[in-house]
Parts: sequence; structure tokens; C-alpha cells
Amino acid sequence: MQITVETKPFAAIENEALVTYVFENGDVAQGRIGELGKLTGGLLARLSQSGEITGKLLETTLVHAPSGLEVARLLLVGAGKRDQFNTATLRKVAGVALRYLKTRSVHSFAFAVREGDATEESAQAITEGVITGDFETDKYKTDKKKDKFIDGIAIAGFGNAETAAGEKGIARGRIIAEAQNFARDLVNEPSNKLTPTILAEKAEAMAKEAGLSVDILDEKKIAELKMGALLSVAQGSVEPPRVIVITYTPANPKPGAPVIGLVGKAVTFDTGGISIKPADGMEKMKYDMAGGATMIGIMRALAALKPNVKVICVVPSTENMPGGKAQKPGDIQTAMSGKTIEVLNTDAEGRLILADGVHYAKQLGATHLVDAATLTGAIVVALANVNVGVFGSDQAWTDKLLASAKAAGEKMWQLPMDDEYRELIKGSFADIQNIGSAKGGGSITGAWFIREFAGDTPWIHLDIAGTAWNDDAKPWLAKGPTGVGLRTLVQLITSL
Ligand code: BES
Ligand code: ZN
Ligand code: ZN
Repeated sequence: MQITVETKPFAAIENEALVTYVFENGDVAQGRIGELGKLTGGLLARLSQSGEITGKLLETTLVHAPSGLEVARLLLVGAGKRDQFNTATLRKVAGVALRYLKTRSVHSFAFAVREGDATEESAQAITEGVITGDFETDKYKTDKKKDKFIDGIAIAGFGNAETAAGEKGIARGRIIAEAQNFARDLVNEPSNKLTPTILAEKAEAMAKEAGLSVDILDEKKIAELKMGALLSVAQGSVEPPRVIVITYTPANPKPGAPVIGLVGKAVTFDTGGISIKPADGMEKMKYDMAGGATMIGIMRALAALKPNVKVICVVPSTENMPGGKAQKPGDIQTAMSGKTIEVLNTDAEGRLILADGVHYAKQLGATHLVDAATLTGAIVVALANVNVGVFGSDQAWTDKLLASAKAAGEKMWQLPMDDEYRELIKGSFADIQNIGSAKGGGSITGAWFIREFAGDTPWIHLDIAGTAWNDDAKPWLAKGPTGVGLRTLVQLITSL
């Protein structure tokens, strides 16, 4: 998809469609929308008066053959209240425009920004919106709709003086959005097409192409390193585990600068193991590798964005299966760190593999950790499918992440980590147990379990179980994998 900056005035733009956005409360007379209204002989005022255009968030109004314009169609997308408008809204508006026009067999359009929005940030948000909006999960469909595609977008409303900023935003947005779609593609793969071995192969191929260094640990190496927690999950499957290690090193690293460790859960299928899950909805557990996919996608983006900070990505990957060799409730395992773990529920496997992943990332030199995992169903109870659950051991580090989430337009919400919750995972027969001994707070006890292995290293845990997968299509995004977390962490790392 080609994305360019367009400096022509609206009246002179020739395209299959011109898109812009309208705010609530009779916005159609103001600024650039007012100009468009004049050009079209008062059309927008009439549509507003008749109640067809209200500016309500993501409302769509299509006008064919608008008089006074060179374009074949004019699409107006609602942008909600003006004082609540930000780049997150703009990203969604752009995604809505693309998905709306694509299904109507339009192949190219101009997207006109409003007064004040001819900026690098806006161009980036629009680019991210259209590229992530264009992603489809039809890879395995044999009757793909071949005529439904958008191949050209011109971002209009920019003057000559703003073109360079626009182009910069487009370039950055493209890198980030394509990395997000790369991660979503991995998450979309079913478990028969994406085993730990295949995930490692795909990650290795990406890393080599991007010029990143990569090390794939196989089952032998994993055993040599005594990653007992990861191996305990993997022992129930005929598929061998892998640990994917990808490293980005800047050209001139500052001595003593922080080294970021990104650790992602990649359970390519989670049956629950011997503590088996109910059949209903189990097919969704192919997305239990979304945390790992996100981290791999981030490395792809960093290779192109070249921030001046070293980043080590560690992705432990396995299946969680029942079987003759599977671990059983009550089994005691020794993690790589030497801590002993009572496995009271084999379905709480994510924290087990992250225990060894986090320890290994520290051993490789990480000074600041972030893990991402589809860790608990309880996070959906707490935050529904709206916010990512954030847990941290160091408030300064956590605040940086929360600020980055805001800037990147991803909803995240911090949950408490009081010491009282830590008490709930004290073991009876080993150092710790892998589920909490109280009824509630399942996401927090899960986070505390991982924190035991981060120790004093500043650490953040993102529980993405409720947000990594859209059960229904949104007007701006396809049903299925969302790639959540990627934009926030890219923002965090590039802002350090
Ligand atoms: N992969 C699941 C968590 C999950 C649930 C992800 C729903 C996506 C959607 C995780 O491994 C799990 O099974 N967690 C258990 C923990 C429990 C046994 C303490 C859960 O949430 O039920
Ligand atoms: Zn599980
Ligand atoms: Zn799981």
C-alpha cells in the first residue's frame, strides 16, 4: 500500500474518494469542513440539519459524486467530541475509512486532516490506522475477495512546509504497523501450523532479514541450562520446546545505559494440561503465544527504527498438553534460578515458562524487564476486553510505560502489587506454588509469581489475555489478533 503526502487544495484532489472527519455539535460550518461545505454548495450543512451527519464517533456518511469536487465520493467519519479528540481517535477514524471503502471496492482514497492536524504524529497515526485496518485473517480461505483492496492513500491537508513532517510520520507509522501485523499474523496461525519449532524458525528468519542477532535454544540446550519450569510444561507434548533469543544492539551503545529485557509467553496451544480446560472455546488457546509474538514483532520494528538502547528479547515457547509424560498437580519443579515450585494447577503454565524466561533475560544482562503474556482469565473479570492489566515492581519504570501507552493509544491500567498478595503464593511443600491460595486476585498472584524471578530488577508485567484477541470485528480492525502492546513498548524503548 502506497501512502503519500498530498498538498493540493481539496477542490483539486482527484481520487476515487476523499475522506475527512467531523466533530459533534454542528461542526460542519467550521474550518476546513466549512470550506468543503462551501465547495459542495452547502451540502454538509444540509446533511447536518437533516440529522444525517452528527459527528458521533465512527459514524460514516458517504456522498456520491459531490458537486464542486473532483473526487467520485466524499466519506465523512464521525470523530466524536472535539475536546476529547487525539491521535488514538484519528488512528481509529483512518482504520474505519479504510475498512469502509475497501468493502465497497474502492482502491484508493485521499484522507484529509483537519486544521491543526498536519503534523508528524497525525500522519503516523493515520498510517498505523490504515495499515492495521487493512489486515485480514483470510490466509486459509480459498475464496479470498481478490477485488477488495486499497493500494493507494494520499494524506491531504498538508502544506509544503509540513510535507517533511508528514513523510516522517508515514515512515515511522509504516514500520510500527507492519511489525504489528507481523505479530498478528503469527498469533492468527493455528497450533498445527505454528509449533514452538516453527515459531522459532519464523523468528529466526525475520531476525536474519532485519539484521538482528538471534539464538534459538533447542530442548538439549534448554535442559543444559536447567530451565526446569519451562521443561515441566513441555514434557507433556511431543513437540519440543524452544527459547527464542533476539538481540538488538545500537551502533554506539552508551556505557552503563539500561539494557531492556523483553520476555514474551509463547504457549502455541494451551489445553490446560492435566488440569484440562473445558472444550467450549478451547480453540482460542492458539493465541496463548500472543505475548511472545508481540515481543518478536517489537524487535522487527526496532531493527528499522534504530533506537540508541540495547534490547534483549527472550521468548520461551512450548505446548501445554496432557499425556502420559505430562506433569501432574502436586509435582515439584526446580526453576533455572534454583527456586522450587509446587505445580498445583498445570493450567497456570504461563508463569512457569516466564519464570525461566525472566531469569535468563537477567542472566543475559537485562537491567529493566517487561514481560507480556496472555496470563489469566481473571484479567478479563477485572478489566474486560478493554484495558491491558499492568503490574510493576518499580513505579518510575511503570510510569514510563503508562505514559508510553497513552502516547501510543493503547489502553492500559495498573493493578496493585501489595505484599499481602505475595503471601498467597507461598508454598507448603516448595518455595512457591503456581496458583494463589485465596479465591480472588488471580491476575495479581500470577504477576507476583513472575516477580519472584525478576527479583530486584525493575520489572513490568502486561496481562494481555483480555486484549490480544478481538472476538468480534471492530469497524477499524478485523476479528482476531490485535497485536496489543507492541506500539506501547516501541514507544517506551524509542523514548528512552
Ligand atoms: N492461557 C491461560 C489464560 C487465558 C485465559 C488466556 C483466557 C486467554 C484467555 C492461562 O494459561 C491459564 O489457563 N490461566 C489460568 C490460571 C489459573 C489456573 C490460576 C486461568 O486464568 O484460569
Ligand atoms: Zn493455562
Ligand atoms: Zn496459557
